[in-house]
Amino acid sequence: MRKKIVAGNWKMNLAYNEAKELVNSLNQYQYPNQNITKILFPPQLYIQQLMNINSQFLIGSQNVSQYNNGAYTGEVSATMLTSINCNYVLIGHSERRHYFNETDEILIEKVKLALQNNLNIIYCIGEDLIQRQNETYLKHLSNQISYLYNNINKTDCYKISIAYEPIWAIGTGLTASPNQAEEVHAFLRNEITKLTSIEIAENTSIIYGGSCNAQNAKSLFECANIDGGLIGGASLKTEDFYKIINSL
Ligand code: 13P
Repeated sequence: MRKKIVAGNWKMNLAYNEAKELVNSLNQYQYPNQNITKILFPPQLYIQQLMNINSQFLIGSQNVSQYNNGAYTGEVSATMLTSINCNYVLIGHSERRHYFNETDEILIEKVKLALQNNLNIIYCIGEDLIQRQNETYLKHLSNQISYLYNNINKTDCYKISIAYEPIWAIGTGLTASPNQAEEVHAFLRNEITKLTSIEIAENTSIIYGGSCNAQNAKSLFECANIDGGLIGGASLKTEDFYKIINSL
């Protein structure tokens, strides 16, 4: 059975007091479905302190360096994350690809170091609006996912979940319809089957991100190949995020 995951990607938002308050208020709720892995990705600066709060949420890192250690000012390594028991990391988010020029080649270096350090990875992929409109999106997604699976060992695949985040839906209020999202998730599972094995594909969580909110989460999560969500804006609002988690 594959893991169900709802994760909040806070991006570069919230001062420390607001961050603590958000964790505390999310914690006041009861989450009936204990089988959902609930993760928060706060700014790196807060990771350790938020991990110290006795909470129902795992805390992960929005980023990790492609290097192991050394003279890389401002970077945080996979070894460092493991050393504070931070076990989840986002790799390949479209904002990192776009604003920080992270290519597939750089991302695979990050993946390899994260795996060596036993981190769980949520690997993000997604097409832009032009690729969606000119119908090259499946080819693009196939290239992104092939590059990942062609460069890792099959034995490591169980540490990886995929987030499908269409760039045109991120922060825009435009969501992929359940049909559009399910088409891609089913396609990706089939691609993973071809690249690895049916067993690995069936056990890989593929979650959706892109303007997922309290209103549309349920219809997305009902789709057979959607195993949860990676939530941006709506994860900053306690009640909305709580509702999204309970939609799964
Ligand atoms: P929004 O939910 O704000 O569209 O962001 C999605 C996202 O980028 C999560 O990583």
